[in-house]
Amino acid sequence: MVFESGDNGNGRGSFNGQIWAIGGGKGGTGKSLITSNLGICLSRAGKEVLLVDADLGGANLHSCLGTSFPNVTLSDFIRKKVPSIKNVTINTGIPHLSLISGAEDYLEVANTNYAQKMRLLKQLTYVESDYILLDLGAGTSFNTLDFFLIADCGIIVVTPEPTSIENAYRFIKSVFYRRLKRIVNNHGIREIIAEVMDRKNELGIKTPIELISHIEVIDKAIGQRFKEEVLKFKPKLIINSVRTRGDINIGFSIKSTCLKYFGINMTYVGYVEYDESIWQAVRRRRPFLLEYPNSRPAKCMERIAKNIIMNKELDEEFIL
Ligand SMILES: Nc1ncnc2c1ncn2[C@@H]1O[C@H](COP(=O)(O)OP(=O)(O)OP(=O)(O)O)[C@@H](O)[C@H]1O
Ligand SMILES: [Mg+2]
Repeated sequence: MVFESGDNGNGRGSFNGQIWAIGGGKGGTGKSLITSNLGICLSRAGKEVLLVDADLGGANLHSCLGTSFPNVTLSDFIRKKVPSIKNVTINTGIPHLSLISGAEDYLEVANTNYAQKMRLLKQLTYVESDYILLDLGAGTSFNTLDFFLIADCGIIVVTPEPTSIENAYRFIKSVFYRRLKRIVNNHGIREIIAEVMDRKNELGIKTPIELISHIEVIDKAIGQRFKEEVLKFKPKLIINSVRTRGDINIGFSIKSTCLKYFGINMTYVGYVEYDESIWQAVRRRRPFLLEYPNSRPAKCMERIAKNIIMNKELDEEFIL
């Protein structure tokens, strides 16, 4: 498979590649599984890929790749035990694929501050990779939101269950509000955004569209700026563990709901079928893409990688 990138300019240092972050709010939806297998997909196409376990406090990406817990991890870099990110990068044994394993369960690391995250990002831009994939933890902690926001491409993994869908909406809203908060200095507006991040806010604001209308009344220019941000914010969506055609369609419904109520235009890049072989491969600590390269889930994964790179939507005509 040959991938051609439509857009790889991110204007960051000498780094010519792309950073993808894989998140989604709910735990156990397949984020690590998809990160590792997307990485393998890209590396099999000859790209240099670095996987980073950014699930600080719940790291397990190494298991998805069948490597044992390494001696050096991201926490050694964050705690400045080693000078460079290269010191914590390990070989996975899979051609073109390297890994930075997640930090151990260490409170100080799980509460990484913004400067530490920026130092990490800066070092990542010196890495000689075509793609850096960040595997995020569950939930909407500031760490997770910030890692999602520093990526060139933010990918949300959802399973077709109400709890997962609900958490995905919460994740999208939180990440978007965090993005807005970062671009304004106005103290009063920042406070409103912080309040709105609480679902039970007294202002009764439930969606980004409502927030922007509220802000526009207070400050027209900032309201306008926020409107531009909505248009720029285009997370990608993957539905995992699908069993029926109805499950696949959930991706299209999430996309239209997000556009209608949030004003956010997601790109539905594809789905991964539920398959016994996936969890069996997980138990053997082997990536399913290497165990079953011709399986239907492997084809689903390849299509997702292609759609992300080409910035295309899942084409209903080609649903397996
Ligand atoms: N498409 C699928 N078919 C069958 N089983 C799957 C599929 N996707 C995920 N699983 C199962 O779900 C488990 C959880 O996946 P994974 O660890 O990738 O989730 P996660 O979102 O990273 O979880 P966490 O939030 O805890 O980090 C896998 O180990 C696998 O057994
Ligand atoms: Mg995980």
